[in-house]
Amino acid sequence: MKKKTDLRSAQWFGTIDKNGFMYRSWMKNQGTPDHEFQGKPIIGICNTWSELTPCNAHFRRIADRVKQGVLEAGGYPVEFPVFSNGESNLRPTAMFTRNLASMDVEEAIRGNPVDAVVLLAGCDKTTPALLMGAASCDIPAILVTGGPMLNGKHKGKTIGSGTAVWQLHEEVKAGKISIEEFLSAERSMSRSEGTCNTMGTASTMACMAESLGVTLPYNAAIPAVDASRYTLAHLSGMRIVDMVWEDLRLSKLLTREAFENAIRTNAAIGGSTNAAIHLKAIAGRIGVDLELDDWTRIGRGTPTILDLMPSGRFLMEDFCYAGGLPAVLRTLGDANLLPHKDALTANGKTLWENVCNADNYNTEVIRTLENPLVDDGGLCILRGNLAPRGAVLKPSAASPHLMQHRGKAVVFEDFDDYKARIADPDLDVDENSVMVLKNCGPRGYPGMAEVGNMGLPPKLLERGITDMVRISDARMSGTAYGTVVLHTAPETAVGGPIAIVQNGDWIELDSANGALNIDISDEELQARLDKHNAEKPVNPLIAQGGYRSLYIEHVMQADDGCDFDFLVGCRGSDVPRHSH
Ligand code: FES
Ligand code: MG
Repeated sequence: MKKKTDLRSAQWFGTIDKNGFMYRSWMKNQGTPDHEFQGKPIIGICNTWSELTPCNAHFRRIADRVKQGVLEAGGYPVEFPVFSNGESNLRPTAMFTRNLASMDVEEAIRGNPVDAVVLLAGCDKTTPALLMGAASCDIPAILVTGGPMLNGKHKGKTIGSGTAVWQLHEEVKAGKISIEEFLSAERSMSRSEGTCNTMGTASTMACMAESLGVTLPYNAAIPAVDASRYTLAHLSGMRIVDMVWEDLRLSKLLTREAFENAIRTNAAIGGSTNAAIHLKAIAGRIGVDLELDDWTRIGRGTPTILDLMPSGRFLMEDFCYAGGLPAVLRTLGDANLLPHKDALTANGKTLWENVCNADNYNTEVIRTLENPLVDDGGLCILRGNLAPRGAVLKPSAASPHLMQHRGKAVVFEDFDDYKARIADPDLDVDENSVMVLKNCGPRGYPGMAEVGNMGLPPKLLERGITDMVRISDARMSGTAYGTVVLHTAPETAVGGPIAIVQNGDWIELDSANGALNIDISDEELQARLDKHNAEKPVNPLIAQGGYRSLYIEHVMQADDGCDFDFLVGCRGSDVPRHSH
C-alpha cells in the first residue's frame, strides 16, 4: 500500500518551498481549499469529449459522474481534454491522428500532477489512442467507454450503424431503392448519443478493453443512454482511487496473458479487423511481444458466438440485455477456451472471478458453442508472395464459398482510380474476379483509410452478386462485411508486392492454409518490383511538411500496429525537472 508521501502528486503539491508554492497557488485560483488536493490521490480524467466526435459528445456528463465517484472515494478529480478522433468527420481518416492523440495523452499524463487516470473514450480510435498513451506512462488507469447508440429503427426494421449504409448503398447501385429512400435512413440509424451500435471498431475495442481487464465488468455493452452507464462511470471513479493506493498500474493488467484473452475474445465476438492493429500498438507501448501469427495460434479455431451485425443479426443494445461481455467470457471459460482465467483486472479480481457467474439471458444473441454463428471466427492471417508480412481476413464477415478462391486481378491504382472506373459498364470484371486496390496503406493514403471493402461494380450488383474477393493495403470499417483481404503488408507505398499486381494476374486466396499468392514466378515478381521501385515517386506530401510529413516518414506497417517507430515502448511517468 502506498503512503500519502509516496503519491506522485506530492512531488508537485507536497513540498514546503518555492516550487510547491507555484504549483499550489495557481490551483487555488479555482477556489480549491488546501485539503482538497493535497495528500489525496489526484485523478486525471482524460476526456475525448468533442462535438465534432458525435460518438463522444456526451462525455462531459460522464466525466461529472466519474468525478462524483472520485470524490466519494477520497480522491480529487481533475478533468483535462485531449485530441478527439471522430471517425465520422475526420479526413483523410481518424486513423491518421491516432498516434497524434496518443502523444497528446502520454505527455499530458506525464507532465501533470496526476496519480492515476480515468480514460474516457468511445469512438474507434479514441480507445486505442488513450490506452497507448497511458501505457507509455504506466500509471494506474481505468477506461470508461461512452457506450453504444440505441438500436437503429427504420421503417419497421432494425438497422445497424455503418452496416446499414453499406447495405442500403449497394441497393441504390443495384437499382432496388431510390436515393431519397436511402437518405431517409440517416436519422433513424443514429437514434441516440453513443458509438456505433454494431460490432464495429468502437464496440470491438470496448470489448477488447474489457477482456484486457482495463475496465470494470459489463462496461462494453451498456448503451450510452442507459442509467447503468452513469453508475459504471461513478463506480470507476471510486475504484481508481483505490488503484492508486494499491499501485495497480497498467503494466500489471496489460500482460501477455491479457492480450491472449483479448485475441480469443475477438474471435468469439466477431470483432473488427482493426483490433489486430490496435492491440499490437498498445502491446508495443507496454513492452509486450505480440505478433500477427498470435492471431492464428490463439484466435483460429474459436467459434464466433455473438450474433451481432455486421456478421450476424443483432446490435449492442441486444447484447447488453443478453448479458454483455461477461456472458461471452463465461461461455468461453466454461469450455476452457479462455486462455488465462487468472489474469488480473482493474477491480482487483481475476477475469474469471468477474465472469464465472455471468448469465446468458438470450441464446439467440449470445449463442452457445454448440450452435455458433461461425464455427471458426478467428481472424485469418494470410501470408504469401503477395503479402510477405501478412494480410488479414475476417471469416465471420466473409462468404464461405469465396474463402478458397482463384481469380483474375482487376487492379485499381488508388481509391480515386477505383471511384472513376467501378461503374464503367465496359470494366472487364465478373463475379470471379479479384479486385485489387493499391496505395491505401499507412503511408500511401496516408493513414490507411477504411476503403478496403470496395463496393462491387453496379453491373454485378444488378445481377444479384453480393460478394467478391477484394484485396488491398487499406483497412475496412468494423461495421463492414464481405470477403475482404486487408492490411496487406508491406503496402504499395513502400514497394510491397501488392504494388506490382497487373490486370489479369491470377491470384489465389487459400484461407484454410493462410495463403495469399499471385501466380507469377519469383523472377517475374522481382523484375516487376525492381522496375516499380526505380520509378516510384516521392510522396509530395512529405515536402509540404507538418504532421503529414512526420506521419509518412515514421508510421510503421500494419503488422507492426501502425504506431510511429519512435513511440514504441514504455517511458514511465518520471519527470525529474521542475518547470521553474
Ligand atoms: Fe464513432 Fe462509429 S463513428 S463509433
Ligand atoms: Mg468504424
